[in-house]
Amino acid sequence: MSTKTPIAVLLSGRGSNMRALANAAASPDFPARIALVASDRADAPGLNFARQNDLNAHVLDRGTARGRGSFDAAIEAAVRRSGAELICLAGFMRILGPDLVSAWHGRIINIHPSLLPLYPGLDTHARALADGVKLHGCTVHHVTEGVDEGPIIAQAALTVSRSDTADTLAARVLTLEHQLYPAALAAHLTGNDLPEQKAAIFSLPV
Ligand code: GAR
Repeated sequence: MSTKTPIAVLLSGRGSNMRALANAAASPDFPARIALVASDRADAPGLNFARQNDLNAHVLDRGTARGRGSFDAAIEAAVRRSGAELICLAGFMRILGPDLVSAWHGRIINIHPSLLPLYPGLDTHARALADGVKLHGCTVHHVTEGVDEGPIIAQAALTVSRSDTADTLAARVLTLEHQLYPAALAAHLTGNDLPEQKAAIFSLPV
């Protein structure tokens, strides 16, 4: 029997972080398996990839007419049905409601494209460039009620180049994200090397 922890991956778009998690999970040594890939967008490319690769792909009912509570209920129902024990947000562009966050306390993690607590929210790369920061990167953190605010599990950083644009920086950070998310997830599940709040910094040459 598999000792891998079943996880649900929630996404809204491209799904490259989900693919990084799926690639890692294909290894027998990785401590998680993907029990569900769910999206609030039926046309999300990440969902197509999941379908084509025989992952359990699910479109969440956005429940716009019925409010956020019912959307959260749709997430909870899909996750519970899949048997997932941990929710991994991977480019999921909806804010989870407080009841869902509280019910899954300590069991929802997210990847964000900045070195939190710097640059929560959107347009992180353009804002980092506008400020002239020399280091930038990504963070895997626990999800709490405050957006992009939960305890940090791991971070990866790179040096900002003078020639970087928001697009080149986003692409370079995304490469780091694909390394960081599986590593942080594995560390979180095994509880070995990266206790909460401890950052792991990978540096890449410019
Ligand atoms: C990633 O850069 C992820 O960090 C970001 O969305 C992108 C999704 O790409 N998430 C957030 O901004 C959440 N606050 P992907 O769909 O290719 O994984």
